[in-house]
Amino acid sequence: MNVNEVLQFVDKLVFDRTGKHLDDVQTAVIEGSWQKQTYDDIAKKCFVSKNHISDVGYQLWQILSEELGEDLKKSNFRSSLERLNIKSSDSCQNNCSIFNFGSQNLYNSPQNSQETDKNNITNSCYHNLKFAPKITRFFDRHSELDQLSDFILNKNIPLISVLGLSGIGKTYLVKRFIDLNLDKFEVIIWKDLQLSNCLGEFITEILANEQLKTTNLIKTSSRENFLNLLQSKKCLIIFDNVEELFISGQFAGQFKPEYKEYQELFTRIKTTEHQSNLILISQEQCSEMLNENLEVDGLELGGLNTIEILKNLGLQDEECWLNLVNLYWGNPVYLQEIASLIKDFYDGKVKDFLAENTSILTTEASRMLALLYNRLSPQEKEVILAISTSNKPLSKEELKNSLNLSSWDLINSLKSLKLRFLLIHIKGNFDLIRVFKEYVKVVVAPLVLP
Ligand SMILES: Nc1ncnc2c1ncn2[C@@H]1O[C@H](COP(=O)(O)OP(=O)(O)OP(=O)(O)O)[C@@H](O)[C@H]1O
Ligand SMILES: [Mg+2]
Repeated sequence: MNVNEVLQFVDKLVFDRTGKHLDDVQTAVIEGSWQKQTYDDIAKKCFVSKNHISDVGYQLWQILSEELGEDLKKSNFRSSLERLNIKSSDSCQNNCSIFNFGSQNLYNSPQNSQETDKNNITNSCYHNLKFAPKITRFFDRHSELDQLSDFILNKNIPLISVLGLSGIGKTYLVKRFIDLNLDKFEVIIWKDLQLSNCLGEFITEILANEQLKTTNLIKTSSRENFLNLLQSKKCLIIFDNVEELFISGQFAGQFKPEYKEYQELFTRIKTTEHQSNLILISQEQCSEMLNENLEVDGLELGGLNTIEILKNLGLQDEECWLNLVNLYWGNPVYLQEIASLIKDFYDGKVKDFLAENTSILTTEASRMLALLYNRLSPQEKEVILAISTSNKPLSKEELKNSLNLSSWDLINSLKSLKLRFLLIHIKGNFDLIRVFKEYVKVVVAPLVLP
């Protein structure tokens, strides 16, 4: 790889991210860093200050780190690119093979090449994590990461779901798992269903990728060819925000008619022989996520159990932080929001905030819970209203007596609430998880009850 190829490669990644090509100073930073020049030298050449050069460098390393899924900085820039062994190709329009594939991250890994040759696949690794978050702070979740490793790396379960309430940390957990295990998969593709959800386009895009073409792609249907890829390469495919595929306003986990093809794909992935893994991240469970081979159907996330998340946020009274974590159910989104509020309006004094015993629903928490509430079926809404306005958990009989629902509707509502991780079932009685109960009591009940 020569410096021109490096510049073309970086320019393409930066253009995909920012819509702008490298300017003169950025070009000088990349060129100089590749040639192991100091920021001082580069600054002198460009007639700008060293501080300006290090700011420009910082932004470039951020973009490259996110695009390549690796922590890149000036000191490891050249060695990382050489290790990733990005190849140029004369036959390719843009003189660099990565340019064939839009902004997807694509690189050849010498380590995997022998294995892939064995499978009649070009000697490449393909990691497309463009739509996955970059993790800069990650706390707790040791047992969840162990469990995920066990399901995927030890037991090789083909389809595993990571489930739980909005903001609880599902996406972060899966991305962390990937960051720790990048080298275990030849192909990693992250698909965010909130951004686009046409399965056909997704599969066509993957199969059109030169690096993923196998010599044994002879089947006519693209679905078959996709399954063929899962057989011949060790792939990890992640579908994030799977709840987007389900009908809102009806019982949980029912596919919208236009997304039935996902349902078929999930079933095929569970029932066909292959060496790959699919992770589904969702706020809502569907029957395709059930796993007969495991004691659990998926990995259901509860809140964080650490005060680390509150560090460096300008808070005082560390001895009370655990109380704050518990008050906000360990939900990192709620905690980050309340921390900022306490910093701004209580001078960071957690004790003062807790002493006020104030209403605990933050704006973001209310917004997220409203979205969740709006997805419920009318029958579920009746059930949650009855439970949240009662001062004790209710039995099925008590619910039946207080509601105008058939037994069938009541059972289906309870089942559906369970599939949304909202219901607690203790010794024959039903309750709602605290955060949602609080929301219904404080926000919904006053609006709908006479
Ligand atoms: N383990 C963690 N350590 C530190 N921060 C975390 C952790 N998990 C989550 N967060 C923080 O919480 C935020 C929300 O997490 P995440 O996006 O993973 O939630 P989610 O469960 O996927 O929510 P949704 O269902 O709405 O997509 C993250 O952006 C991050 O700031
Ligand atoms: Mg998410």
